[in-house]
Amino acid sequence: MIEINLKEFKSKFKKEIDRIEELKQLDTLYRKYLGRKGEINKLFKNLKNFPEKKKKEFGEKLNLIKTEIEKEIQKKAEFIKKKIQQLKLEKEWLDVTRPGKKYEIGHLHPLTIVQREVLEIFQSMGFEVVEGPEVETEWYNFDALNIPRDHPARDMQDTLWIEQKRSLNPKFNFLMRTHTSPVQIRYMEKHNPPLRIVVPGRVFRNERTDATHDVQFYQLEGLMVDEDIQTSHFKAIIEEFLRRFFKKEIKIRLRPSFFPFTEPSFEIDVKEKGKNWMEMIGAGMVHPNVFKAAGLNPKNWQGFAFGIGLDRLAMLKYKINDIRLFYNNDLRFLKQF
Ligand code: FA5
Repeated sequence: MIEINLKEFKSKFKKEIDRIEELKQLDTLYRKYLGRKGEINKLFKNLKNFPEKKKKEFGEKLNLIKTEIEKEIQKKAEFIKKKIQQLKLEKEWLDVTRPGKKYEIGHLHPLTIVQREVLEIFQSMGFEVVEGPEVETEWYNFDALNIPRDHPARDMQDTLWIEQKRSLNPKFNFLMRTHTSPVQIRYMEKHNPPLRIVVPGRVFRNERTDATHDVQFYQLEGLMVDEDIQTSHFKAIIEEFLRRFFKKEIKIRLRPSFFPFTEPSFEIDVKEKGKNWMEMIGAGMVHPNVFKAAGLNPKNWQGFAFGIGLDRLAMLKYKINDIRLFYNNDLRFLKQF
């Protein structure tokens, strides 16, 4: 009778432990059988009801079963832990031979590329890079540059004015700069010649757009002032610049022109084989009134200044036929650079 009981007890335990898959369940099983109030202890407590003869024999068997159960549970625990570890390894398995994921990191805008190239060339010729504000005063943008009060460029049609009550003092009226030339004045107010600067920057005009005109575009201002600067200096520098930038001889044409801040003034057109002349650079010898506005004595100094349209330079270099492509943010266009 007692024998059978123990056998059943063991097989019952076996069935239970076989069904277990998690450590938590195993813990419960452990407590159920080996805990202070567990099955094994219950049986031990029951020993006192046995006849003296059987007590020892049964006690020994019970001890054996207890050790067996302990071992089984220990074995099962190790088995479960191994399985967990294996699953983890399978899940975290890494194929180091797989090709890497390619991240799109983007790249520079064509205008930035061109601007950097241009600056590098001028820097190698001894020009310093200077910047100025995009929101400018009427004074720096027009008056200081000898542009008359009634000049049509100041009109609403050409200039984007900041909304405000117009003051009689042009130093208190604000606008989006229409060219980079105001930085000539700003720089000469603070620095004495001899000087050589280039000024890259965005400019704004209230214009109708077409393939070669946009309402915002980039210019590069250049200014060189010394005691004896001639038109020939300008010509030599600009030719050297264009040769280095386009890396080939390109045709240029110097045309007499008019800017209130230079005298004489000229415009430079550039042409590629089979294409039309494109107006690229406005330039001239610095007007005496400009030196005066910046606080320099025009009797002591001479200089040339120029303003290059960077967008048009980029158009020619990359054979782009519409300036507006630079600002549309069409990835099909931008990805080509
Ligand atoms: C000026 O802006 C003068 N400040 C240039 C200058 C500087 C003359 C120093 C003398 C001394 P202009 O408006 O011509 O000039 O513009 C200069 C260049 O900017 C043009 O030759 C052209 O290449 C470019 N440009 C002018 N308007 C536009 C436009 N709407 N869109 C794109 N590029 C333009």
